[in-house]
Amino acid sequence: MLINGDSGTTISAFDRGLQYGDGLFETIAVADAHPCLWQRHYQRLQAGGKRLGISIPTAATMIKEIQQEIGFNDRGVIKVIVTRGKASRGYQPDPEIPVTRAVHFSPWPSFPASTNSDGVSVRLCNTRLGSNRALAGIKHLNRLEQVLARSEWDDPGISEGLMLDANNRVIEGTMSNIFMFKDGNMHTPDLTECGVEGVMRNLVLEVAAELGRPVNIGQIELPELLAADTVFLTNSLIGIWPVRDIDGKPFNLDHIDRDLMLEVNDRAYV
Ligand SMILES: Cc1ncc(COP(=O)(O)O)c(C=O)c1O
Repeated sequence: MLINGDSGTTISAFDRGLQYGDGLFETIAVADAHPCLWQRHYQRLQAGGKRLGISIPTAATMIKEIQQEIGFNDRGVIKVIVTRGKASRGYQPDPEIPVTRAVHFSPWPSFPASTNSDGVSVRLCNTRLGSNRALAGIKHLNRLEQVLARSEWDDPGISEGLMLDANNRVIEGTMSNIFMFKDGNMHTPDLTECGVEGVMRNLVLEVAAELGRPVNIGQIELPELLAADTVFLTNSLIGIWPVRDIDGKPFNLDHIDRDLMLEVNDRAYV
């Protein structure tokens, strides 16, 4: 791991990332020894920085450290963390304190090859996402909702948990965004109140529009999702995962848009 450009794994216990979750992160796929969709990840980092008032290091600094961490590894995962730096006491940020940055390479997780053809099993989580426009969309370090939701199951046969907001609206998975295909149209939840605006979600939105299948962004209630023809999940590492079933309710994988999947995969890992 690189901490502020130096090799090591130690960050001050006073760091606001630890004290308050006061920071941002990105999880980036590595292919052919370079960070995939880097521009999009950096843009989201910057958007989060703007929202929280955290100065994001330059793209040149970040990319230099990312390449240093990747080294000769061809495939893997890069995690970038930027926090507001060391705290004194209390919540009030001190704009004079430099941010902390951490860059870490880890090996590519081995997803079963069958996920693309057979789809994945998903469960409905009891943990709800809180609504907060100030934090919605960005990838901030406060992930307790996802931690609680992911603690709800340990069955390795279930790949993801679906999360609703307090008004029973479908928002996303614990680590992914969700799309559904219903009555000839694609839909994905609106993320104005909560949820992470995924880099892969945005790529899917773009590719779908180019293929002439624009996606409706709006409110999705659980019964609507369960009545969909197909459902799929997205994130930077998994790309697109078709959903086989949600709490035992099966979906027909024959209806999945394979053209869209291929096109997204072609662009996501180059
Ligand atoms: C809560 C949550 N939503 C959505 C996503 C998908 O984001 P991305 O496509 O940028 O990987 C993630 C990724 O880890 C996530 O943790």
